[in-house]
Amino acid sequence: MTYVIAQPCVDVLDKACIEECPVDCIYEGKRMLYIHPDECVDCGACEPVCPVEAIYYEDDLPEQWSEYYKANVEFFDEIGSPGGASKVGQLDTDHPVVAKLPPQAEE
Ligand code: F3S
Ligand code: F3S
Repeated sequence: MTYVIAQPCVDVLDKACIEECPVDCIYEGKRMLYIHPDECVDCGACEPVCPVEAIYYEDDLPEQWSEYYKANVEFFDEIGSPGGASKVGQLDTDHPVVAKLPPQAEE
């Protein structure tokens, strides 16, 4: 099981979640961040600090964002399991689910 980042993160990228993660498993894409499903230890520390409530335990992911489970998993198809986001840095790519979205308006 894993935590998942959903659509509210897109074009916001607050990054408060990164500070909380004890295993450095939250990776930065171009328009949102992604949680590594195999590196996440389900500690839950990231979930309450996101100001836009983008983070959910996979079983609690709202129906309208159900494809974000797949987006978080498949984002790592090419990079595998680097074992730490800070050494990887920002990746200049996004999952197609995210890349196809129009710019998300600021509130
Ligand atoms: Fe995104 Fe929220 Fe983290 S906006 S970067 S999931 S704190
Ligand atoms: Fe996973 Fe979030 Fe903890 S990504 S390891 S639940 S801080």
